[in-house]
Amino acid sequence: MSTAQSCPLPTVSLSKYLEEEGQNKNAESQLLKSSLPAENDCHTQAEDPVSDVPKYLLELGLTPECKQLISSLPAEKGWVANLLHQYQGFWHTTRQLQAVLTCQNHFQAQETDILLVTTPKSGTTWLKAIVFALMNRVKYPNTDNNHPLLSENPHILVPFLEYGLYIDSQVPNFTTFTSPRLFATHLPLVSLPESAKNSSCKLVYLCRNPKDTFVSLWHFTNKLRTKDMGSNSLEETFDKFTRGVSLYGPFWDHVLGYWKESLENPERVLFLKYEEMKEQPKLQLMKLAQFLGCPFSNEEETRDAVDGIQKLCSFENLSNLEVNKTGKLASGEEYKAFFRRGEVGDAKNHLTPQMIEKLDQITEQKLHGYGLKF
Ligand code: A3P
Repeated sequence: MSTAQSCPLPTVSLSKYLEEEGQNKNAESQLLKSSLPAENDCHTQAEDPVSDVPKYLLELGLTPECKQLISSLPAEKGWVANLLHQYQGFWHTTRQLQAVLTCQNHFQAQETDILLVTTPKSGTTWLKAIVFALMNRVKYPNTDNNHPLLSENPHILVPFLEYGLYIDSQVPNFTTFTSPRLFATHLPLVSLPESAKNSSCKLVYLCRNPKDTFVSLWHFTNKLRTKDMGSNSLEETFDKFTRGVSLYGPFWDHVLGYWKESLENPERVLFLKYEEMKEQPKLQLMKLAQFLGCPFSNEEETRDAVDGIQKLCSFENLSNLEVNKTGKLASGEEYKAFFRRGEVGDAKNHLTPQMIEKLDQITEQKLHGYGLKF
C-alpha cells in the first residue's frame, strides 16, 4: 500500500477560480489559438507553450455558458486537476465539462455510428483496439505488418468524443470519417448527446470490477500529477471513489445506466465485462463481431482470424510497441500510462481487507436486484 505524501495543488474556491480565469483572458485566447490541433491530429501541442504545464491540467477557454453552469454546480477537489464538478449526477474536471457541453450541443449521431463506452480504467484502450481491428479486418488483416495498430495508439485510431474531438471547443471535421464511424466516450447514458440517445447507433459498453477499476484509476491519476503536486494517497482517493467522486463517477451509477439500457435494448447496447474478455477472449470477440454486424465467416474461423485479432490487441503486444512506449496524446498523457498490468484481481495487492469489504458492500447495495454482479 502506498504511503505517498500528498502535496496537492491548493484547493481553489469557485469564485476565486473564475476570477483568476477572467484575468487569464489574454493568455487564454493565445493558448486556445495555439492549441487548436489540425483535424484529428492528436499528436501535436502536448504542452502549454507558455508554462510547459500538460494540457490536461489547463482550465482555460471556458465559454460563458460553461462558467455560469459551473458556478451553480457542486464542486469537490479533483484527483489531478483542481476541481471536479457534478453535472447531471456525474463528476467532471473543468476542462472536460466544457468539452461535454460542446459535445452535447454539437454532436450529430448517425444511425450507423458505433460508440464505445466505458468508465475510465475499465479497458477502454483495449476495447478500442479490438473494435478497430474487427471493423477494419478486410482492409487491414491482423497479419499485415503495416497494421495501423502497430504504429498508432488506439486512442488515435478511435477518438473520444468529449475527451478528444470536442476538447478545447473544437468543431471537429468529420469529412475524413467513413461509415460506420467509430467513436469512444466516457459519458454516462444520461449525458449522451440527444442525437446519440435518439438514433439507433450501436453502443458497446465495457465495464470492469470496481476494485480493479479504482486501483487502476489511482495509479493512472498519480502518473498524471506533476512532480510538484506529489501523489494522492490511496486512502484519500478511496474515500472519494466510494463517495462517487471520481472521473465520470459515481462508478456504480455509470455502469447501472448502461446495464439497464442493455437489458431493455439488447440489439442497441452490448454490455461486456473486462474479466470475461480476459477469461474467454475468443467467445467475447465473436459476440462483439456478431453484434457489430460483421460476424466471423467459416473461412475466417478456419484460419483462426479471431485468435489473430486477440493476439494483435493483447496487453503484451500493444504495451511493447514502440509507439505505445514513447508517444503521448496531444493533451499530454503518455501512452504508456494506459498500459500498467492489465490483469484481473490486482486490487488485492493494494487494498486492505477493510477496503475490499467496503467496496463489495457498496457494490452489493447499489447493484442489488438488477442482476449485475462483479
Ligand atoms: P491496470 O491499471 O489494472 O493495469 P483504460 O484503457 O480504460 O484507460 O484502462 C486501462 C487499464 O486497462 C489498465 O489496467 C491497463 O493496463 C489495461 N489495459 C490496457 N491495454 C490492455 C489490453 N490490451 N488488454 C488488457 N488490459 C489492458
